[in-house]
Amino acid sequence: MKTIGVLTSGGDAPGMNAAIRAVVRSGIDKGMKVMGIMRGYNGLINGEIIEMNRSSVSDIIHRGGTILRTARCEEFKTEEGREKGANVLKVFGIEGIVVIGGDGSFKGAEKLSELGFESIGVPGTIDNDLAYTDYTIGFDTALNTVLDAINKLRDTSASHERISIVEVMGRKCGDIALYSGLAGGAENIIVPEVEFNIDDLCKTILEGRLKGKLHNIIVLAEGVGHANEIAEQIQEITGLETRATILGHIQRGGSPSAFDRVLASKLGNRAVELLNENQGSRVVGIKGNEVIDCDIKEALSMKKEINRDMLELARVLSK
Ligand code: ADP
Ligand code: F6P
Repeated sequence: MKTIGVLTSGGDAPGMNAAIRAVVRSGIDKGMKVMGIMRGYNGLINGEIIEMNRSSVSDIIHRGGTILRTARCEEFKTEEGREKGANVLKVFGIEGIVVIGGDGSFKGAEKLSELGFESIGVPGTIDNDLAYTDYTIGFDTALNTVLDAINKLRDTSASHERISIVEVMGRKCGDIALYSGLAGGAENIIVPEVEFNIDDLCKTILEGRLKGKLHNIIVLAEGVGHANEIAEQIQEITGLETRATILGHIQRGGSPSAFDRVLASKLGNRAVELLNENQGSRVVGIKGNEVIDCDIKEALSMKKEINRDMLELARVLSK
């Protein structure tokens, strides 16, 4: 019987539980023994490992967060830390491991592959910052959370004829801002991938007012700067009342959307299929509605680009 492990690492994302469920149940279905590793690479180093069965993952498909907990582990970035982790895997007889997380977590998985353990990365992050896959698990749910906030901000900013600037997460990636801004009909979307100029932004706002716009919604990606500071500058330059809203960790929680649950189920299952075929050092993802897998090194070397056509579309539609 092959023994595999599963862990969640880095920032949590809605749908991680659905992915854990898929790994556990697909693994058991293939006759594998599936071990749950708690608290990311920390739990690996400390041997916090429990055997999972079908009922360990009952009633979690609809829950945000991760039942395995998650963590960021500095020690795993060191050779000694990884040696400790590798020894623990040997003690528990774990031959293959599924790592659910973002690019940082995948680097850890890559290192585990180099140490001889078959490792498969499943993209779990709200940021959608991995270039090899169209979508990461958690992104869609986070978008819907942002959209709900934009809808509410639209009500109040319209009533007061104000400018509302909403800061969203995403680290260095502007996808949360881009997709939520397009879906929410935002007048301006500010992303780290495109150079930002405060005067140009204020000019568009004032031009909009001249054309009859009574209020503005601006979506700002956190990678560009702080909403409070930019709001102050806008108010100073335009003379228009401006309010900032920072959505923060609300974006990381909540029941996963249908899209994220389906994606998590497919990708968790595919990760187990790869381990069953004795393949390692790979990541799974989705491209044009097809489940794909590719070499982990290759995936990590790909540069994520912003979709400029979508940015342009959002600009045209919000004029
Ligand atoms: P994410 O996986 O969401 O990108 P982080 O970048 O915080 O989140 O990475 C999560 C964890 O992955 C880190 O705390 C660390 O344990 C591990 N990790 C990150 N980079 C490396 C690396 N270069 N080598 C080994 N482990 C790493
Ligand atoms: O990677 C997910 C993410 O939520 C980013 O969007 C954000 O910059 C970061 O994690 C926040 O990290 P923490 O939860 O450690 O504050």
